[in-house]
Amino acid sequence: MSDDYSIERVKTGIPGLDELIEGGFPLGDTILIAGKAGTGKSILANQFLYRGAIEYSEPGVLVTLEESPEKIKRNMMRFGMDFGKLEEEGMLAIVDLSPSKEATPVSIGEYPSFDLSGLEAIILNHVKRMKAKRVVIDTLSIMAYKFKSRDILREEFFKLTANITRSGCTLLLTSEIPAQNDGLGVFDIEAFLASGVIVLYNEKISETTRSRSVEVLKLRGSKHSSRIHSMRITDEGIRVWPGEISPGV
Ligand SMILES: Nc1ncnc2c1ncn2[C@@H]1O[C@H](COP(=O)(O)OP(=O)(O)OP(=O)(O)O)[C@@H](O)[C@H]1O
Ligand SMILES: [Mg+2]
Repeated sequence: MSDDYSIERVKTGIPGLDELIEGGFPLGDTILIAGKAGTGKSILANQFLYRGAIEYSEPGVLVTLEESPEKIKRNMMRFGMDFGKLEEEGMLAIVDLSPSKEATPVSIGEYPSFDLSGLEAIILNHVKRMKAKRVVIDTLSIMAYKFKSRDILREEFFKLTANITRSGCTLLLTSEIPAQNDGLGVFDIEAFLASGVIVLYNEKISETTRSRSVEVLKLRGSKHSSRIHSMRITDEGIRVWPGEISPGV
């Protein structure tokens, strides 16, 4: 039996972020990237995959439920990140569940026994085939309306995330923080089942200015920063300034 309890870390690929969390995300954990609309959740999650592939030779799987693969590729190219090339090189698989793919819209209650086992099988297939180490689901909570009850949803989200991380991957979920939080939403289930929660902000600091920042809300097993740090979206993607405390929030 091993008595080495040290936690293996996965580099986030976001300059400055690793320094806030003892070197990276704990390997094989589920991390929730949370924030309001437009705070940079998708960019951060995509950059985690891109840098993982380019700098650490770790293949990744991106499950997209909001933006089409074409839009993701176009937007990430602005940062010099060529997702099409990664795909061709077998370093990235994109699972497209974006709305354009859905033939007809569905309404609540249409899926009396909806579950995530089909999605799980697709993801795990890619993971096995590519020996993927990183998985991103952007945004799982979009599926919420398909479940009949909160209990079933919690059970299904838990099974899916547990089985992905059990395969040896580190999993990033993105989620929008609800304006009004009564503690009964999907967000709370996600925040509970994740070992870590990273919150992104883009707050108004004066009449004419907003300021981006990042906070490590929780990270089990880690001595992380408890401050809110400056963050910017530059031409090379997201960057965090570990020594700079945000004036905003
Ligand atoms: N090339 C760029 N340079 C600087 N900032 C950019 C660039 N591209 C996008 N942004 C900023 O990033 C924001 C979008 O980031 P992103 O799509 O990651 O947000 P999100 O948190 O995923 O939003 P949503 O909740 O709508 O999915 C834009 O609203 C814009 O402010
Ligand atoms: Mg997004």
